[in-house]
Amino acid sequence: MLKLGAVGGLAALNALPSTALSAPARTLNRDSARSLPTYLTGVFAPVPDETSSLNLVVEGAIPPELAGRYFRNGPNPYPGVDLGNWWRGDGMVHGVRLRHGRAEWYRNRWVRTLHAPPTLPDGTRDLRVGPANTSVKHHAGKIMALVETAYPYQLTPDLDTVGVLDFGGRLRSAMTAHPRVHPGTGEMHFFGYAQQPPYATYHRLSPAGELVRSVPIDLPEAIMMHDFAITDNHVIWLDLPVVWDDAARERGFPNWSDRHEPRIGVMPQNGGSADIRWFTVNPRWAWHVGNAHEDRAGRIVVDAISGDAADWVATQKIFEGVPGGRAHGHLYRWTLDPATGRVGERHLDDMATEFPSINDDRVGLGHRYVYSPTTPLMPTRHNRIVKHDTRTGRRTAHYLGADRVAGEAVFVPARCGRHEDDGWLMAIVHDLTRSSACLVILDATAPARRPVATVHLPRRVPYGFHGEWIPDSEVGVE
Ligand SMILES: [Fe+2]
Repeated sequence: MLKLGAVGGLAALNALPSTALSAPARTLNRDSARSLPTYLTGVFAPVPDETSSLNLVVEGAIPPELAGRYFRNGPNPYPGVDLGNWWRGDGMVHGVRLRHGRAEWYRNRWVRTLHAPPTLPDGTRDLRVGPANTSVKHHAGKIMALVETAYPYQLTPDLDTVGVLDFGGRLRSAMTAHPRVHPGTGEMHFFGYAQQPPYATYHRLSPAGELVRSVPIDLPEAIMMHDFAITDNHVIWLDLPVVWDDAARERGFPNWSDRHEPRIGVMPQNGGSADIRWFTVNPRWAWHVGNAHEDRAGRIVVDAISGDAADWVATQKIFEGVPGGRAHGHLYRWTLDPATGRVGERHLDDMATEFPSINDDRVGLGHRYVYSPTTPLMPTRHNRIVKHDTRTGRRTAHYLGADRVAGEAVFVPARCGRHEDDGWLMAIVHDLTRSSACLVILDATAPARRPVATVHLPRRVPYGFHGEWIPDSEVGVE
């Protein structure tokens, strides 16, 4: 068993291996290895160390204008440690450096997070303590590794950990792994949720990275709010029926609740909790929103990957490492009409997918395309990266092959693109039979075609969560 201890200073942080953050860890031994939880096996199995490789093998041609880094985060507990749930594993970021049409390097690094008891002496949560394992985002020249239970950790462009980022001490809640940047203002909108009131807090960063607004959001009980959305003028809250009740706290993972009224809230960006207009919706859940916007009639349109109670229970099994888990949401649209109070709900696609992405230039504005891989947490024989055309209902898919599965497909806009889909999709693809991984770059206008380029990575990459393309111009590196 790795030991917890008092830690002071970043040097000490960097020296420490990982251990339990909010639940007791157990050290794996020969007996437990016979019945490993699913999140420690197969495509999920963590890698045991950090490596670096130069001059990667590339098939095809990397577009020369792609100068930057693709970073992808995910749980990767240290060797021999089982933290009891997939989402507790220490964050490890896998990075691929592209420039001049070449893949210059690959490296993987754990995020050096603070390992200390997550609860302070006064009973509140120490927001410096969290695995930083869910996403990577950049804003105002800073690269952040994020998890929704804690503060972000800042990374260097070479994947070293700088330390906790609390925006000059102004951030007083956790930070979601899914902030949104308004393409018109350059402000970053985000929130944090908590198990004590206020159950959610809305925040906004200026384009320069200053925390300029923090507003408590009233919710009837503690929920798990993994994602949210913005439109041009509003913030969209998902008060859906996955809650932190007593049983969930005991279990260490939230529960579906039939008694929680599912609602979606629409709040003016400069408003507060009292200004939220709530719409009651059908009992569904969504890990991830693709996008939201205001249509010409003034209605709020929200596109997400959504499932029902049975889908939630199936997803829960993935995190708890129990066989039979699956991620089985579908692209779904809520249309909320403030004039009439009416809600429209419908499926946009009957193919199960997760991890929706869009052209981020369309965040909060009307979008046409949503990209998402099929059942990314449950390898099947029919794995694809899908482009949904929400205008026509058409679906275009890149077929990966029977034993290859993709993670999130990040959209990278072309520099001089004229259309929403002018650009590329980047995704890590896992080959289950060879136990290897590659970074696939697809032409987003025609994703069914063979990849524009395939970068062969020097090692397998465990299945993880979210990634981001970070152009050199955004983080001040040459
Ligand atoms: Fe997520």
